[in-house]
Amino acid sequence: MDRRSGTRLPWHLLPDNAAVGDGGRLTIAGCDTVELAREFGTPVFAYDEGHLRARCREAVTAFGPAATYATKAFLCRAMARLAAEEGMGLDVASGGELHVCLSAGVPPERLVFHGNNKSLSELRRAREVGVGRTVVDSFDELARLEALHGEDGRTPAVLLRITPGVKAETHEYIATGHDDSKFGFTVSSGAAAEAVEKAKASPAVELVGIHAHIGSQVFRAESFSAAVEVLGRFANPLGLPELVVGGGLGVPYVEGEEAPTITQWARVLRSAAAEAGITAEIGVEPGRSITAAAAVTLYTVGTIKDLPGIRTYLSVDGGMSDNPRPVLYGSGYEAFLPRSVTADRNRTVRIVGKHCESGDLLVRDARVPADVMVGDVLATPVTGAYGHSMGSNYNKILRPPVVFCRDGDARLVVRRETDDDLLLTDLG
Ligand code: LLP
Repeated sequence: MDRRSGTRLPWHLLPDNAAVGDGGRLTIAGCDTVELAREFGTPVFAYDEGHLRARCREAVTAFGPAATYATKAFLCRAMARLAAEEGMGLDVASGGELHVCLSAGVPPERLVFHGNNKSLSELRRAREVGVGRTVVDSFDELARLEALHGEDGRTPAVLLRITPGVKAETHEYIATGHDDSKFGFTVSSGAAAEAVEKAKASPAVELVGIHAHIGSQVFRAESFSAAVEVLGRFANPLGLPELVVGGGLGVPYVEGEEAPTITQWARVLRSAAAEAGITAEIGVEPGRSITAAAAVTLYTVGTIKDLPGIRTYLSVDGGMSDNPRPVLYGSGYEAFLPRSVTADRNRTVRIVGKHCESGDLLVRDARVPADVMVGDVLATPVTGAYGHSMGSNYNKILRPPVVFCRDGDARLVVRRETDDDLLLTDLG
């Protein structure tokens, strides 16, 4: 057992409508989380629907209709519908994300089509349905759009994605604004200016704006100001009506982390835009800051292995297949017991999953209540972004369900996979 003094779970990591219910149990929007685990099984993603709606509304209040939800963070039809109902546009980065949004009934003109390697067939479908904006990422894509124009005569409204040469302070894999990047047209090399000339001269596209995304999980507002300044310098002389600065607003995952709110982010962006003399409408594409803190993942503790003098391994019934972020980026998470959400957590354990891999880690040094036992429901907060969406079937583990909690009601919006689902594409 660890001898550090116990600490409680920082409450701000929980969804907006989290509360302490009967016997000290965590409730989300009136739903008892221990009951949720019983009803839907574990692992399960439990979302606070009100939290999702509140963040969407905050973004729309701050940015108007130019607030676009980045669906890669978390997408299912219920989420697509929710974001559209709250007035957001939706950013899709593949034909698959496009398909889910369309099948949710999102009006195509509200969709923004992204991607650094959109295929001809993806582009063709986007044109056929009439997506609102296409963000062009490369000269090859421009050539594809010209070829398609020859087929159908359409002239989609496009933005050009540029790389402003700003290095955001975040993990290398999720920093995208610096020059050495697979995304977009580089400003410093002159490629961005050349792309503007080509797009303007092309009858195949209607150039309406410039786009940049500097990275994800960015905590420092100054990183965004620096990007806006470079963007202004590049975009102002073009006189285009739209300027989209991407997503990337960070969220706190663990004790001690802090991030600006969406409203504060808007303030920083607006003042940087004013300073840079930008008159174009500023658009954003938040993903994580809309969904991350809206959910907790509920697991069941299956084994506790004490290695005297080394550490204690606590295995849960999920792992890197429902949250690959610790393995991919070394991301930290907190953990707690929903049966006793405000309990001191004075035992340190390593929380691991059930995959056949030593690296299958969820929380490296998790603080949990000392009385944790096999059979307990254990939760990790802030798992609403890039968990479900980056999940996998590794080891043929079944993907967890997604539950939306609202006013004491738990609505299953994505069911748990079944063994038969594993055979759906397997032709035998
Ligand atoms: N717009 C563009 C063009 C993007 O590439 C992204 C994220 C976003 C918006 C949304 O960014 P957000 O607001 O969520 O930071 N899997 C990584 C994050 C990858 C982000 C990729 N692009 C993670 O789990 O941290």
